[in-house]
Amino acid sequence: MAAAARGKGFLLGLVLALGAFAASSLGANVTYDSRALVVDGKRRVLVSGSIHYPRSTPEMWPDLIQKSKDGGLDVIETYVFWNIHEPVRNQFDFEGRKDLVKFVKTVAAAGLVVHLRIGPYVCAEWNYGGFPLWLHFIPGIQFRTDNGPFKTEMQRFTAKIVDMMKQEKLYASQGGPIILSQIENEYGNVASSFGSGAKPYVNWAATMATSLDTGVPWVMCQQADAPDPIINTCNGFYCDQFTPNSNSKPKMWTENWSGWFLSFGGAVPYRPAEDLAFAVARFFQRGGTFQNYYMYHGGTNFGRTTGGPFIATSYDYDAPIDEYGLVRQPKWGHLRDVHKAIKLCEDALVATDPAYTSLGPNLEGTVYKTDSGLCAAFLANVGTSDATVTFNGKSYQLPGWSVSILPDCKNVVLNTAKINSMSMIPTFVYESLSEVVDSSSTINSDWSWINEPVGISKKDSFVKPGLLEQINTTADNSDYLWYSLSTNIPGDEPALNDGSQGVLHIESLGHALHAFVNKKLAGSKAGNSGNSKIAVDIPVTLLPGKNTFDLLSLTVGLQNYGAFFDTWGAGITGPVKLKSSANGSIIDLSSQQWTYQIGLQGEDKGLPSGSSSMWITQPSLPKNQPLTWYKTTFAAPAGNDPVAIDFSGMGKGEAWVNGQSIGRYWPTKVAPGSGCADSCNYRGAYSSSKCLKSCGKPSQQLYHVPRSWLKPSGNILVMFEEVGGDPTQISFATRQVESLCSRVSESHPSPVDMWIPESESKTGKTLRPVLSMECPRPNQVISKIKFASFGTPQGTCGSFSHGKCSSNQALAVVQKACIGSKSCRVDVSIGAFGDPCKGVTKSLAVEASCA
Ligand code: GAL
Repeated sequence: MAAAARGKGFLLGLVLALGAFAASSLGANVTYDSRALVVDGKRRVLVSGSIHYPRSTPEMWPDLIQKSKDGGLDVIETYVFWNIHEPVRNQFDFEGRKDLVKFVKTVAAAGLVVHLRIGPYVCAEWNYGGFPLWLHFIPGIQFRTDNGPFKTEMQRFTAKIVDMMKQEKLYASQGGPIILSQIENEYGNVASSFGSGAKPYVNWAATMATSLDTGVPWVMCQQADAPDPIINTCNGFYCDQFTPNSNSKPKMWTENWSGWFLSFGGAVPYRPAEDLAFAVARFFQRGGTFQNYYMYHGGTNFGRTTGGPFIATSYDYDAPIDEYGLVRQPKWGHLRDVHKAIKLCEDALVATDPAYTSLGPNLEGTVYKTDSGLCAAFLANVGTSDATVTFNGKSYQLPGWSVSILPDCKNVVLNTAKINSMSMIPTFVYESLSEVVDSSSTINSDWSWINEPVGISKKDSFVKPGLLEQINTTADNSDYLWYSLSTNIPGDEPALNDGSQGVLHIESLGHALHAFVNKKLAGSKAGNSGNSKIAVDIPVTLLPGKNTFDLLSLTVGLQNYGAFFDTWGAGITGPVKLKSSANGSIIDLSSQQWTYQIGLQGEDKGLPSGSSSMWITQPSLPKNQPLTWYKTTFAAPAGNDPVAIDFSGMGKGEAWVNGQSIGRYWPTKVAPGSGCADSCNYRGAYSSSKCLKSCGKPSQQLYHVPRSWLKPSGNILVMFEEVGGDPTQISFATRQVESLCSRVSESHPSPVDMWIPESESKTGKTLRPVLSMECPRPNQVISKIKFASFGTPQGTCGSFSHGKCSSNQALAVVQKACIGSKSCRVDVSIGAFGDPCKGVTKSLAVEASCA
């Protein structure tokens, strides 16, 4: 590793990082007590967010981390992904997106610190939960229980990572950014399935981790019996009711799910900003001091890294920073405001225990008050209807499902249901492939192709009686396993060998299959994320005598969750039967001599890189043909905006840009037609199926191509298409921002950064609500006010309209304040706009665009 090259920036970063934690000395002493993590003797309120380094590129890391810092994070949390670092036992890889040390140093360089969740089981919607496949083949191994071979390997990898971090002096105890580590992951959720092996395993893992002497605390999440000194932490959509298992441990939240993951075949989940903000504020209200967003940037499951089965390539997660690295508004901005509000309370929060008072049914007040005069309060309405409460003799409006934060126990700096932050409508701007197809290319046709043979074509094929389980056979070296059989239909089955119709019945553990009969695609079938198993009856026409059956079975991300998930298996384990439509007679083919081929010929020949002399470039491009490799060259879309490929027109497969896999594509896998809500009410408990969008549409149509993988021209795109598609239909798109919007009412608190403690305010509290907007890119200015209304505007961003009451000065006032500036602020008051309807609470709604 080029340590010297990055040494300088790193040191500077460390000084900055520790600046927040250890002002005067290098090296921070991190411990904990009943209230908080204690850094150099000081209890800290810490806001953390997950960014998984292999789900973006090293070129994206600095910007993602800066946006995290600007969003008010102190800590970046990442898992460590064993299977990408040790793909072959004892052969390690920490290059490129896998450069963990560089990632940790990049966080430090931004002045933030790190929570390193080593696992090494990580779940994470990651292939096989992060375990390398070779682990499965160690004799006598049983995962995640009191099993010698497993413990040996887990310890070896954990120690390897800890040593690496120590060598680079990355632990806080050494002056580095890592303040916390995790061992195991949510084992408590599955422990009971492991019977008597569970407890000794947990105790062993705790002792093993502690003995590695990192000098910083360890946590176990969802592990109620985590032994001392390990802190047991909470994961979930809400963790305000959680309590750690000892009075000496702080209340910590390692996974606050900012949205949810997407599955191929599922609708797109989202979590309203108001609800997420509510969950965060409730947690700090009820004594929490460390909270981590899972995810803060979800990113992309490149290559074959998705878990599963059926986890989509996009891991956007509706996180505050979107898959493409743009801030998601108003979520990012609203949470930033929440973090600022909580930090205003930090001194009081860490100084004392909370005191709770009921303010009525579903209404709770919490006060952190010290003799020395510190006081911070939270007022919560955990019911779904609005309420007015009296607190310390003052009256407060509390919208349903919201928390108000009062850093001085008197004035509300923020209410989680009142969003001051602007929102942004992102958009994809399309360029057709012909616009980007590279004219400098010497290929005379835009596309070239190679057919992948149906059935056995590689020398390393082998014959076995009966039907094999897939993962044990392929060791996940490929998604694909061919099961081939060429057989004479016995003469005593006239119903099947006279060329008449029959049915091929196939049962598979999953995840998907394509059945070719006599070299023609006869049918395809996939399981789904709820049940990967397949039982399918495919109508077939048989030839007299010999018939060939080539069954292509494929995995779509290996299982990553559940007790014994490593043993669930995949592939066509049978039975496979032929049934005659005429007389119902059945031939069971299951125990015949099947020929097997692991992977595709094209994979062995290196087609993903685009090299090979076999590419065919005649003008007649095959379309809608199964098992086709396609290749083209293209110029990168101009500019710096993030790039995506829209795979509409294609079926299912994998795609590579300049040899780097951008992941599995599957635009034909469509979300159910129902279950989505146009607008989702943030009030009431959230669940992963509560707020869904894109019903009836492809689960994922757009696939991220990181900018750093592209050169201006001469880029090579290769696709392997399984079922059939038309590559000329794919298009490129860039991620841009269409509009900025904001809507702020007279009842909103002033922006949190205008907060003045009452003790310091000479004029008393005269602050008014303010609407703020800012163009997302450094060199942009607000160029147009598309809509402005002060009064009772209707609709949402993108479809605002004037209500009954509207000031006729709104547009002019907003234009004057905003046009030509990068950012602007407008008072939401009758002073600025006049009063179009006395006695009514008015709002200002604005939609603008930047150029
Ligand atoms: C948790 C798990 C994470 C992730 C999450 C869902 O249970 O710890 O790794 O899988 O669920 O996104």
